[in-house]
Amino acid sequence: MAVILGIESSCDDTSAAVVDGLQVLSNIISSQVDMHAKWGGVVPEAAARAHVEAILPVIDEALEQAGKKLEDVEAVAVTNRPGLVGALSVGVSAAKALCLVRGMPLVGVHHLEGHILSPLAAHPSLTFPHICLIVSGGHTEIVRVEAPGQYSILGQTIDDAAGEAFDKSARLLGLGYPGGKALQELAENGDPHRYALPRGLRHPTYDFSFSGLKTAVMRLVDKEGTGLDRSDAAASIQEAIVSVLSERTIRAAEEQNLTTITIVGGVAANSRLRALMKSEADRRDIQVVVPTLEMCTDNAAMIGIAGHFRLAAGEVSGFDLECLPNAPLGQ
Ligand code: KG4
Ligand code: ZN
Repeated sequence: MAVILGIESSCDDTSAAVVDGLQVLSNIISSQVDMHAKWGGVVPEAAARAHVEAILPVIDEALEQAGKKLEDVEAVAVTNRPGLVGALSVGVSAAKALCLVRGMPLVGVHHLEGHILSPLAAHPSLTFPHICLIVSGGHTEIVRVEAPGQYSILGQTIDDAAGEAFDKSARLLGLGYPGGKALQELAENGDPHRYALPRGLRHPTYDFSFSGLKTAVMRLVDKEGTGLDRSDAAASIQEAIVSVLSERTIRAAEEQNLTTITIVGGVAANSRLRALMKSEADRRDIQVVVPTLEMCTDNAAMIGIAGHFRLAAGEVSGFDLECLPNAPLGQ
């Protein structure tokens, strides 16, 4: 096992972590969420500037909390794709500088590979192959995970991501940004069957569509006005999103003859999604594995873990490592 420093700055979290194999020694996350909340979404220029301010203190803290010095670090793994280029380049520049100065190997990691491998920190004996549902602010994908590094995408959203569906609906209900967690809290005592909302694509598919839901919520809010029961609306919206996520993922596992499902990404923190997926899976003898809440949202420990597998496979990036705004998984 090698001590790896992981760095993540693809969106609005600056994070550094120290991992030893699958063991997470530290995982420091500096969130910019309060700053972006003022604007109701991530402002790329502001994100890049905030990463510049946070990156060195975050790395220092990750080393200190892990009880390691820079001399103990054997390699650096950094998210270089996909993401906001200005944001990514802050982490990648820091990683390159550290590797250059200390003569360490550098490895560029695909952000989604980090999410896919994130459950390994809490569940090192996770079974492969398995089905992974990636649900975050920017992604909604069902992936067949053959082994670390071997992925095939079975389905994905054709418009909004699941996290976006939560955030946009939350905004329509007058909740702040990002609204996923607030919507979950508002839904707690609500009736999920009160308002009928669309489930997107009807034909048997592994793909998703959430844009119709957004339009339906807009209409509902307009039509009901002050008569809207916000708690029932939140519960109905949440149910519309998680029921479709659960149905597609369970069907993918069944049709692929796989008995393990993982849920990763920010929306994997949703308690109703976890509960529904688990109850549906239990009835079919399928196991559901989820990361800890801290490992659901963007973090560098998952990047360190993905880097561990890349380095073990003999992969090292050059100092010409680029930051890519778009990059398919597996490339
Ligand atoms: O993975 P993540 O931190 O960032 C991206 O890579 O996008 O995911 C953030 C997303 C946001 O849309 C946020 O509203 C959503 O995850 N989220 C939740 C919950 N916690 C975070 N959505 C539903 N329920 C939650 N408890
Ligand atoms: Zn993410």
